[in-house]
Amino acid sequence: MNTRVAEELLRKGEPFANYQHNLKARFNATAEANALSEGVRVGVSRPHESAELHVTGTATYCDDIAELTGTLHCALGLSPIAAGKLLASDLAAVRAMPGVVRVFTAADIPGENNCGSVLHDDPILCDGEIRYLGQPVFAVVAETRDQARRAAALAKTVLKTEAAEPVLTPRQAHEQQRYVVPPMQLTRSVSGKDEAGIRAAIESAPHRLTGSLDVGGQEQFYLEGQISYALPKEGDGMHIHCSTQHPSEMQFLVAHALGIQAHAVLVECRRMGGGFGGKESQSAQFACIAAMAARALNRPVKLRLDRDDDFMITGRRHGFWYEYDVGYDDAGHILGVTLQMVSHAGHSADLSAAVMTRAVCHFDNAYWLPEVAMHGFCGKTNTQSNTAFRGFGGPQGAICVEYILDSIARTLGKDALAVRRANFYGTSERNVTPYRQTVTDNIIEELVDQLEVSSDYQARRAEVAAFNAGSEVLKRGLALTPVKFGISFNVKHLNQAGALVHVYLDGSILVNHGGTEMGQGLNTKVAQVVAHELGVNFERVRMSATDTSKVANTSATAASTGADLNGKAAQDAARQIRERLAANVAQRHGGTAEDVRFANDKVLANGKELDFSAVVADAYLDRVQLWSDGFYATPGLSWDAKTMHGRPFYYYAYGAAVSEVVVDTLTGEWKLLRADLLHDVGQSLNPAVDIGQVEGGFIQGMGWMTMEELVWHPKSGLLMTHAPSTYKIPTANDCPPVFNVKLFEGRNAEDAIHRSKAVGEPPLLLPFSVFFAIREAIAAVGSHKVNPPLQAPATSEAILRAITAVQAG
Ligand code: MTE
Ligand code: MOS
Repeated sequence: MNTRVAEELLRKGEPFANYQHNLKARFNATAEANALSEGVRVGVSRPHESAELHVTGTATYCDDIAELTGTLHCALGLSPIAAGKLLASDLAAVRAMPGVVRVFTAADIPGENNCGSVLHDDPILCDGEIRYLGQPVFAVVAETRDQARRAAALAKTVLKTEAAEPVLTPRQAHEQQRYVVPPMQLTRSVSGKDEAGIRAAIESAPHRLTGSLDVGGQEQFYLEGQISYALPKEGDGMHIHCSTQHPSEMQFLVAHALGIQAHAVLVECRRMGGGFGGKESQSAQFACIAAMAARALNRPVKLRLDRDDDFMITGRRHGFWYEYDVGYDDAGHILGVTLQMVSHAGHSADLSAAVMTRAVCHFDNAYWLPEVAMHGFCGKTNTQSNTAFRGFGGPQGAICVEYILDSIARTLGKDALAVRRANFYGTSERNVTPYRQTVTDNIIEELVDQLEVSSDYQARRAEVAAFNAGSEVLKRGLALTPVKFGISFNVKHLNQAGALVHVYLDGSILVNHGGTEMGQGLNTKVAQVVAHELGVNFERVRMSATDTSKVANTSATAASTGADLNGKAAQDAARQIRERLAANVAQRHGGTAEDVRFANDKVLANGKELDFSAVVADAYLDRVQLWSDGFYATPGLSWDAKTMHGRPFYYYAYGAAVSEVVVDTLTGEWKLLRADLLHDVGQSLNPAVDIGQVEGGFIQGMGWMTMEELVWHPKSGLLMTHAPSTYKIPTANDCPPVFNVKLFEGRNAEDAIHRSKAVGEPPLLLPFSVFFAIREAIAAVGSHKVNPPLQAPATSEAILRAITAVQAG
C-alpha cells in the first residue's frame, strides 16, 4: 500500500491493524470497524499526539520556551588543530568583545571536568590535551547569542597551541593499536573448533572469499540542534531544559560537573526535534557548560549550537572497516567466517563499546553461521567522538554479512536471494546465534516469501536482465535484503522503566514516564496504552514533559525500547488505578470488581452504565487513590560482557525490502525506481506511526548507504563536510515514485506491550537493498562476472570507481 492510501485511512480515523490486506474490503467495512474502534485504543491509527502543534508551529521545543529576564547566551571557542597541546589562551581579547559577560575554561568547572557517559574520558572543556579539531576549549557568555558567537570565533587567533600529528582513520588507529576500549572477541564453532581450527576449515572449504569493505559514518542531522537552557534555582538548585534522549544521565553529569547532589538538578524535555541517537550521550557537554555558567553568574544561560558547530563538536554514526575470510560450499552456504571489524570511535569512548557489541551481535543478521570468529576494535582517532545513531552498530554488523552473501552469489552465478535463503536461520540445530541466544521467533522465511510475491521479484528480475541486455549506458539492478534486529539494551539493567498516571477529578488523565519524545510517536503510543487500559477516549489523556523530578533513574530512550518499556510501565500504573476504581464501583453498585468493564468512556457494572467521570468523582469522595506509579523490567535477559554470551534480546524484529535502481554508468548518477518494504512490528500499537517509522528509517538508511559522505582533511583533520552545503541528506525528491510499505501481519511471540514490536531502528537496515541493487546494476557492466568493489556510501564517485574496476576485470 502506498503512503497516500495510508494517509487517507489516517484521515478517516480508521483502525487498520491489518489494512494492508484487501483495502477495498476495509473501506466497505467502515461501520463495523468504527464500532470496534470505539472500545479499542491500541492497534488504531492515531495522528501523532503533537501533530496539530507540529504543523501549526506551536509545539514547544527548547528554544521556544519564553526566556526569563536576565537570560544570557553562550557560544563555544573551538580548537583550530586536531591534536597537540594547548599552551596558552589570550582570553582578555575575548573578554573585551562587545557584550561579553564572562569567559569560562576547564579551570572554572567546580566538579569533575568530564561528560563521558561510560568511561570518564571526555573533558567538558579542553584540559590541555587537544583531541580533535572542533573540540570546545572555552565558553563565552554574552548578552546576546550573536555577541557570544562573534567573541567565540576569536578562538582561531587567541589559542596558542603546539600541534602533533593527528590520527584520522580507523586504519591508522589500528596500525598504532590506539583503541578507546579493549578489543572484543566472539568465537562460536558448532564442531568445537578454536579460531585456528576455523581458519583451517575455511582454507579447506570448497570455495573461499577474502575481502575488505569500508562503510562510512553518518551525521544524525536532527533538525533541532543541540541545546540546553539552564535556570539557576535556590540553594544549589539547577533546572535545565535540554534537548536530550537521556534526561537522567544529563542530571547526573551536571551534578558531577557542579559538584552537587543529583537531587538538586532537574532536567526536563518535552520533545526533541529529532535525536536519532545523537542526543543520547552527546547532549551532556552543552548541559554541563550551560549549567556551570548559570551557576557561576546566577543568571539563566542558554547554549544553542549553530549547525556548523554541531557538526564540528559532536560525533555521529561510527564508520567501519572490515576484513573477512569466508569458506562456503556450492550452494552458497557459509561454512566458516573470520571477521575483523575496526570502528571509527573518535577521541573518546562515549558509547563505542556498546556500539561494537551490537555490531558483533548483528553480523549474523538473519543467517545461521556455524563457525565464526569475530574481533572488534574501536579505533581511537583525533576526530569527534562517535556515538549512537539509529541501529547503534546493528546496521554496521549486518551490512558486512550481506556484502559477503552478495559476493558469494555473484561468484557462484546464483540469484542472491537463493543464497540468502540457503543461509537463513532455521529450526533445531540451525537456530542458535554466535552469542548463544536461541532464535525462537523466526519468521524470516515467511516474510521474505510474502515479499517476493507481492513485489513481483522474479518477474522483475527477468525484466531487469532484458532491460540491461538492450541498454549500453543505463543499467538497472534489483535486490532483496532481509533484516533481523535484536530488541533490548545489551546492558541488562538498562531494561527498566517507570511511569506516573494521574486521574483528575474531572476524569482527565495526565501521564508522565521516563521516555523521551523525539518525533517517533512514543507519547502517542503510551497515551493509547493508558486510554486502552482505562477504557477512555484518547482525548482524555495528556502527556507531560519528561522530567527527572517525576520518574527517577531512567534509561535513555534508545535501542528502540521506548514503547516496550514505558508502555508497559504506564500500563502497570493505569491498571492499578482501574482495579481500585473497579473495587469502588462494585462496593457502591453491587456485583464483583472483576466484572466491572471500562469501555467507550463508560463503566459497566451490575447492569448499570456509568460515566467514567462520575466513577472518578465517586471514588474521590470515597478516598480512593486516583494516581499511581508503574514499573516494568524486561524479563528473561542475561548477558556476560566478557564472553559475549547470553540472551541480550527479548525478541527479534524482522523485515525485508526489494529495491530497484537505475544507474547511469557514465556519470555514476542513480535513481531508486521502486521500493517494496514488508516490516514486522508484531501487532501494531499504531499502524500510521509505525509506517512513518518504517518509511523514515528506510530513507534515512538509504542516505547513509548512498549519499551522506563525511570527509576529514587528510592533513589538518578538519571535517570539511560540516554543513548542508557539503553534506547531502536525502530529500523528498529521493523517495521512490513507487513506494509500497506494508506491515507484516503477526504478533510478538513474547509478552511485549499488546504483543507489538519495537520499530524505531530496525527499518534502517531495509535500504541495504538499495545499496545491493546499485551493486547489481554495476555488475551488469561486466556481465555479472566480477564483484564490484563498491564501498559505502555509494556516491557517484564510489559508483564510478567500482565501474572502472569492473571494466578492468
Ligand atoms: N524517529 C524520529 N522521528 N526521530 C528520531 O529522533 N530516533 C530513532 C527512532 N526513530 C528517532 C526516530 C532512534 S535512534 C531510536 S533508538 C528510536 O526512535 C527511539 O524511540 P523508541 O524507542 O520510542 O522507538
Ligand atoms: Mo537510538 S541509536 O538507540 O538512540
